[in-house]
Amino acid sequence: MNTKLDTDYWENRYIENTSKWDLGEVSPPIRSYIDMIENKELKILIPGGGNSYEAEYLYHQGFKNTWVIDLAPTPLANLLKRVPDFPPEQLIKGDFFNLNDSFDLIIEQTFFCALHPKLRENYVHKMHDLLHPNGKLAGLLFNVPLNIDKPPFGGSEEVYRSLFLPFFNIEEMSVTANSIASRKGRELFFQFVKKA
Ligand SMILES: C[S@@+](CC[C@H](N)C(=O)[O-])C[C@H]1O[C@@H](n2cnc3c(N)ncnc32)[C@H](O)[C@@H]1O
Repeated sequence: MNTKLDTDYWENRYIENTSKWDLGEVSPPIRSYIDMIENKELKILIPGGGNSYEAEYLYHQGFKNTWVIDLAPTPLANLLKRVPDFPPEQLIKGDFFNLNDSFDLIIEQTFFCALHPKLRENYVHKMHDLLHPNGKLAGLLFNVPLNIDKPPFGGSEEVYRSLFLPFFNIEEMSVTANSIASRKGRELFFQFVKKA
C-alpha cells in the first residue's frame, strides 16, 4: 500500500465528499447500546469519530463528558456546526496514538478498520492505556475480510479474540441484529473490559 493514511488523506476524503463510511446518523447498534447506559457522568471517547453522530447523540442524551479525537479538522467543525454548544475543548484535532488522557468508556465505530493492520497491536495497547481500571471498549467491528490495500480493512471474530484477549475480557462479541442494511450480518457488536 502506497497511500499514507495521514491527516491529508482523511481530510481530503471529507473535503471531496468521498467519505463513504459516513452514515449521516448514529449507527443503530451503538444507539441501542447508548440507550442502555444509565450513568451520564461517564467520561467517553470516540476515537476517529469523523462527523461523530455518536458524539452528537450522546451529548443530546445528557452524556456531557463526551470527547472526540480525529486527525481531520473538517468533520470536527461539522459537529460543532450541528451542535454549537458542544464544548470545543472536547473535540481534539490530533492523533489518537498521541492522546494522553483516561476514559471510562471508548466507543469504536469504523476507526479500527480505517487503520493499517500493522497498527492493530498499537491500537489494543493504546486502548488499554487510555481506559480507567475496569474501563470498557465497546462498539462495532467488521467480521468480513474487506480490503487488503486500503481502508476499510476487515477481520474476523477469531482475529479479534487473539488480538484483544491478552488485554481485555471479552464480555460480548456477536453479529448484531440491527445493523444498517448494507452492513447486515457484516459487523460484530462487542464489549471488552480492560484487564488489570
Ligand atoms: C472511516 S472514518 C470513520 C469516521 C466515523 N467513526 C464514522 O463512522 O463516520 C475513520 C476516521 O478516523 C480518523 N483517523 C484515522 N487515523 C486516525 C488517527 N491516528 N487518529 C485520529 N483519527 C484518525 C479519520 O480522520 C476518519 O475521520
